[in-house]
Amino acid sequence: MKVPQIEFPKHKFSISRLVYGMWRLHEDKEGTSPERIIKKIETCLSLGIDTFDHADIYGNFENEKLFGHALAKLPSLKSKIKIITKTGIQVPGSKFPTKHYNTSKEHIRYSVERSLRKLQVEKLDVVLIHRPDPLMNPYELADIFENLITEGKVNHFGVSNFTPSQFQMLQSVYRKPLFTNQVEFHPFHTEPLFNGTFDQMLEHKIHPMIWSPTGGGKIFTPKSEREVATVSKLKEIAKGYGCAVDQILYSWFLNHPAGLVPILGTNDPERIQSAAECFFCPITRLEWFSILEAARGKEVA
Ligand SMILES: NC(=O)c1ccc[n+]([C@@H]2O[C@H](COP(=O)([O-])OP(=O)(O)OC[C@H]3O[C@@H](n4cnc5c(N)ncnc54)[C@H](OP(=O)(O)O)[C@@H]3O)[C@@H](O)[C@H]2O)c1
Repeated sequence: MKVPQIEFPKHKFSISRLVYGMWRLHEDKEGTSPERIIKKIETCLSLGIDTFDHADIYGNFENEKLFGHALAKLPSLKSKIKIITKTGIQVPGSKFPTKHYNTSKEHIRYSVERSLRKLQVEKLDVVLIHRPDPLMNPYELADIFENLITEGKVNHFGVSNFTPSQFQMLQSVYRKPLFTNQVEFHPFHTEPLFNGTFDQMLEHKIHPMIWSPTGGGKIFTPKSEREVATVSKLKEIAKGYGCAVDQILYSWFLNHPAGLVPILGTNDPERIQSAAECFFCPITRLEWFSILEAARGKEVA
């Protein structure tokens, strides 16, 4: 069984139900040669994972370029993959002394055109505003979204790390449907279940993408009492099904009716394969709540 696609009916577009993330690309112990990156892309494609999550800033602005070099080596990959990238964060360095956000129309255009060049593709499938910018002018942003779509540079725009009210404010101005709100979600960060984030995605009939699904690897190296209890619960359930801990964790995400799309962060092809097999490990409603209870350290009210 391959990783299925998940439909975004309002956008007449689909992405793979698991997405592969590029944040840690430059940390791969096996290196960042085009051959190594192609190996990971091909592993993903063989499993049905065809969607890749970037940001302009990943790897100190290098990871889009590394990925682009790999695509240039094997251009036939370009028609098989979907690319999501993000924009809007300005990291401090030689250009700026202060970390800040920039969602001005000039910066969004500059950044989108730079991502196209670095990734060596003609079009970006989805571009997300990486963080809510307190100085964001939604009217200006909606205009530049429309222009970049009309120019054929981007297919869809969305957001990341927005509160429900920030999402609603931008959506009320932008006349096309925002694609997603990409947010942090894992057993040690369950707020999106309770703060309206996932409710809003259900209401809008779109799917949240979730980042750091393993808590940045914490699931595999639990430290606090609650982390240890959560991992014990995952292990207990995994044992019962003859599955691995990561598979039960990904299965936990798949149960939510909003259609959560986990973004895998591992650099290890075997771990990508293991994650992709989560579809063989369905868990029950009772098990779902027992993981939530262990993770929060308390039963639901
Ligand atoms: N929108 C945002 O603001 C935002 C923020 C952060 C991340 N993201 C996106 O989310 C993606 C995923 O985030 P993440 O990298 O934090 O994901 P993650 O899976 O939570 O963390 C990845 C870390 O966990 C380890 N790991 C993963 N699976 C493992 C396994 N089966 N066994 C042992 N260790 C394992 C990895 O090590 P190995 O590589 O050694 O397996 C790596 O160090 C990023 O690439 C990025 O695309 C978005």
